[in-house]
Amino acid sequence: MQKRIEWIKKSLTTCLTACLAGGLLFSGCAGRGGEKVNEIQIGVVVYDEYDTFISQLMNEFMEDVSEQIKNGKRISVKRYNAAGNQITQNEQVEEMIEKGCNVICVNLVDRTDPSMIIEAARKADIPVIFFNRELVEKDLMSWDKLYYVGADAFESGIMQGQIAADAWFENLETDRTLDKNGDGCLQYVVLEGEAGHQDSIVRSEYSVNALVDAGIQVDKCESSIANWSRAQAQTKMAQLLNKYGDTIELLLCNNDDMALGAIDEMKAQSIPREKWPVVVGIDGTDVGLEAVVNGDMLGTVYNNKEGQARAMLQLAIYAVTGEGYEKLELEDGKYIRFPYMRVTNENIGEFTE
Ligand code: GAL
Ligand code: CA
Repeated sequence: MQKRIEWIKKSLTTCLTACLAGGLLFSGCAGRGGEKVNEIQIGVVVYDEYDTFISQLMNEFMEDVSEQIKNGKRISVKRYNAAGNQITQNEQVEEMIEKGCNVICVNLVDRTDPSMIIEAARKADIPVIFFNRELVEKDLMSWDKLYYVGADAFESGIMQGQIAADAWFENLETDRTLDKNGDGCLQYVVLEGEAGHQDSIVRSEYSVNALVDAGIQVDKCESSIANWSRAQAQTKMAQLLNKYGDTIELLLCNNDDMALGAIDEMKAQSIPREKWPVVVGIDGTDVGLEAVVNGDMLGTVYNNKEGQARAMLQLAIYAVTGEGYEKLELEDGKYIRFPYMRVTNENIGEFTE
């Protein structure tokens, strides 16, 4: 109780300082608990700020915040990078709470281990919006002020497989170059993200399922973990090329960065493009889209970072002020998930404008 009072005092002081500094006096709004809230102070921590998709998602989020500030909302953001360490992230969340944040957005390092964060937030009665790295349902359901914003991983895998399946069938009608060894079977490799990440697990499985569902006979060379990383994927691709030469026909990559890493290696070895496997990614990052435009990648699956960033902010505003509930499409009062979109050279223009 004493701690809570201290926290309230501290946040009031911070708010007041902010008010005076801004030379503004404003009425404030009722929070979810009915108390007056003067400023939305968001603490955000990412698992790794060098992850391409995450850094683009954060850029969107910060742009949305600026937009809201322009429209007169009082919002401040404290940003943290956990640099791949869950213990660091737990400490950063405690610091956010101490510094008076009244809502917290967490991109978990270890999605199976949110317990310290949930405990600290619950004690201080501060809502938490988890994003991108999905915690298990039981944890999310353990308190009513916990939310998750992300996308539907199953869909991304299915769409990736469908892009490859369409190309296979189309190619059967033309020069049949995709089936390099002419055995009627698709020899593929999967480059996987982090072990245990919901997106790696689901995408790896469902992309292949989609090929099989389309009626294609598949033949797995192997799957190889490259932790979402372009550099690691390049190393893995070097090993795969050593082992399989140019017999791989399809490279299913759990994200664009790994697809690009594999492409980096094929370019480094001066392998002509007609000898490359077909490469498909997921995310539609700027560099990923560029690779679809120039034909290095057959396609990608768009991970709607704009939608996710916007939903995170709307949810943060709602969690603190109680405003804007009607704009949120909350599933089970907890989840906001954005659909993915297929991207190939047929519709790439819609994404690069
Ligand atoms: C995925 C994304 C990856 C990586 C990962 C981090 O959704 O496709 O590129 O950013 O999240 O958790
Ligand atoms: Ca073949």
